[in-house]
Amino acid sequence: MEGEPLSALCTPALVVDVDKVKRNAQRMIQRCNKLGVQLRPHMKTHKTLECADVMTGGSRRCIVVSTLAEACFYADHGFDDILYAYSLPFDKVERCAALSERLDLFQVLLDHPEALEQLKNRPLRNGRQWHVWLKLDCGNGRAGVLHSEPEALSLARAVSLTDGVELTGVYAHCGNTYNCRGVEQIHAVAQETTTFTLQFMEKLKAVGITCKSSIGSTPSCSHPVDDMSQLSEVHPGNYVFYDTQQSVIGSCCLEDIAVRVLTRVIGHCPHRNQLLIDCGWCGLSLDGAGKLPTGYALIEGHPDLKLVSMTQEHGRVEPISGPLDYSKYPLGSLLTLIPYHVSNSSLQKVLLTK
Ligand SMILES: Cc1ncc(COP(=O)(O)O)c(C=O)c1O
Repeated sequence: MEGEPLSALCTPALVVDVDKVKRNAQRMIQRCNKLGVQLRPHMKTHKTLECADVMTGGSRRCIVVSTLAEACFYADHGFDDILYAYSLPFDKVERCAALSERLDLFQVLLDHPEALEQLKNRPLRNGRQWHVWLKLDCGNGRAGVLHSEPEALSLARAVSLTDGVELTGVYAHCGNTYNCRGVEQIHAVAQETTTFTLQFMEKLKAVGITCKSSIGSTPSCSHPVDDMSQLSEVHPGNYVFYDTQQSVIGSCCLEDIAVRVLTRVIGHCPHRNQLLIDCGWCGLSLDGAGKLPTGYALIEGHPDLKLVSMTQEHGRVEPISGPLDYSKYPLGSLLTLIPYHVSNSSLQKVLLTK
């Protein structure tokens, strides 16, 4: 395809602006250097070697993944120091053990004493230790032990006292920054998550435990607060691409968004005042319903159009108001979507399956 125009692509097609990817990645690296924290980029958004190399500055070290398929994919391609940041699934302990015995540093995450029992029941061979991060809920309201509960401290102590298991760090994901609008709100959530995490680190220190700490999300790491410099690591991921959702939150500008989904007009439906396009929810995330006036995406150059609904391989587009001028959208013509949420829904099918 090199040298060919984008119009030569079969659609739907996810296209990535590599210069923007490099710029977004470089800015995050610089931000983390300035803060003095280790950047551990998350791979879940793209799941590619190319972006992983850009995000790690070519080191192929220190990444986060959310599935074991991703972990194996990156391990098979020479990546190491991989954190599987998903509350340890009991059906996958053996595969986690195999990765721990194979890599220099494979790390798991847990938030329940029963998960620790699972690790105890599967001691690692060759003098290896399990490297464990404790998942803390600092207000995100998803996985993790609540930071203020005594159970959090007792679980951390139990991990650190268990033979063959090392408490490597404390991990809090501030996904609640996704409810923010504007930098001020992002700062407030980033500060709260940081403060709760650092307070927990103090409690650990008081009982003689030292380990790493990590928080992060794309909004909080795009606009970090000073106290984040007291953490060991941060773990954002989406920033490599950004998306319309991030621009609405205030993490980035529209110009920073590095991805587009190219789609073609495949139908005219004057009886519904709609166009059909060849991009459905296999090519674009269904996330974001009702969040944008233009539907599931921005249609570049056509602020008057709305992507109102999608089925697996079809999308319905209509004007925000008034009748559609079909002469502007001939069958076979291209439209460019800037996704609300850039997910791996399309990529995952091409590059990786579970
Ligand atoms: C556990 C965990 N850590 C890190 C991230 C990366 O955050 P973001 O996608 O905001 O960059 C995610 C994303 O959902 C996550 O679930």
